[in-house]
Amino acid sequence: MDRFDIRGGVRLAGELTIKGSKNAALPMMTATLLTSEPVILRDVPDLADIRNMHRLLGELGCTVEYTASDDIEAPGGVMRMQATDETISHARYEVVRTMRASISTLGPMLARRGAARVSLPGGCAIGERPVDLHLRGLTALGADITLDSGDIIARIPRVGGKRGRLRGARVFMGGPFGSTVLGTANVMAAATLAEGTTVIECAACEPEIVDMANLLIAMGARIEGAGSPRITVHGVSELGGVDYRVMPDRIEAGTYMCAAAITGGDLTLHNCPADSLMAHMDRLQQMGVTLQYGSNLPTADLMRARCRVCASVPGGRLLPVEATTQPHPGFPTDLQAQLMAVACLADGNSVITERIFTERFLHVAELSRMGAQLYRQGPTVIVSGVPRLKGAPVMASDLRASACLVLAGLAAEGTTVVNRVYHLDRGYERMDERLRALGADVVRVSEKEAAV
Ligand code: EPZ
Repeated sequence: MDRFDIRGGVRLAGELTIKGSKNAALPMMTATLLTSEPVILRDVPDLADIRNMHRLLGELGCTVEYTASDDIEAPGGVMRMQATDETISHARYEVVRTMRASISTLGPMLARRGAARVSLPGGCAIGERPVDLHLRGLTALGADITLDSGDIIARIPRVGGKRGRLRGARVFMGGPFGSTVLGTANVMAAATLAEGTTVIECAACEPEIVDMANLLIAMGARIEGAGSPRITVHGVSELGGVDYRVMPDRIEAGTYMCAAAITGGDLTLHNCPADSLMAHMDRLQQMGVTLQYGSNLPTADLMRARCRVCASVPGGRLLPVEATTQPHPGFPTDLQAQLMAVACLADGNSVITERIFTERFLHVAELSRMGAQLYRQGPTVIVSGVPRLKGAPVMASDLRASACLVLAGLAAEGTTVVNRVYHLDRGYERMDERLRALGADVVRVSEKEAAV
């Protein structure tokens, strides 16, 4: 497995273009299952999770063609998809276990094909991750759902011997840790083809849900209220094809903001979804980072803004911070680990609390190996800032925890070896090359090279 060797201490400077969003693109790809017409998505990043979804849709009777862009600064490639065989509706465990977003095939497949069999995703490195809310929502729309051999088997009951349709209903998507993002996407997608009106209460408000709703609307769906806790979907009998540009990745943007912050750098991000990053930018500003993003621009422009992140605090260190993860528009769980890396070097005690995935702390022990002073009490970590981190071999079996370790390595004295970067490759396209272009001393060492 590849690793990154990072020699820290270089102040990052320069410009980069944010890629299309992985977490928006994954459920959007499954919208292909809702129509027999072509679905074209632009700005799709070239990532392992996207390739897994590509493979899964192939197994579910879709033709899928991805044209990657050679330009490292392009926001992504073009994905052309079309459902040509609607008889196979089994998302197998072998694919689902590599990528939990596979659960997003359930709603679309059920709504259009009348039946779906999707392997139940197991737990993962960041926690248990149940899908009960997805199943409850689809059941409320009239699906019959059972479990067999670890698979979810969903069917729309037949009416008078004929294939039935889902029925609009009032569905509640809130759980003990907030609304479910992929659950909302699943139910919203299924409801587009239901008979009658569906009202999704306590819907996830994440920008990826808004982007998904806009894609479905462009396909002919009738959806109101996406981005608010109540989404109304008036079912239609058919959806058509679409050509759509995926929103930029707010988590990638937030991570590069942290890279500027932790190295005292000065970066300009293009195609930056600043409007979706207000809580994160607020935390960084509290720490003393300067952010310029044309705050007076209309919202639509702020989703693809030019954003300058400058963290050179003359002769000083960043200030400590308090951050608690919350559903959007609160501070996102997907940036908790990265902000913690920055807090490790702040001048004072920071308090970071994880409320969405309460076990999402794989990075804590690894940061400690680099000299960070961290004290965990349940869902809260007190970060007692130190003047410097020291390079060390580290590893984390989670995407964002790995990003956190890369950030720590960029600032640490000496060499940090981040092992098993395939986790990073699931969510950050060519991160080593992109960091090098900004001045970082990062080398990817392939497994083969490492063995020599
Ligand atoms: C999405 O996962 C993202 N994944 C995650 O990004 C992100 O961390 C998460 O939303 C929260 O923002 C994709 O978009 C592909 P949830 P999702 O259902 O939808 C509980 C990354 O690093 N819950 O919103 O699967 C759940 O356990 C990743 O890119 C239930 O209780 O997350 C959690 O505590 C990882 N029952 C909370 O809700 C359910 O049926 C939110 O999870 C579903 C979820």
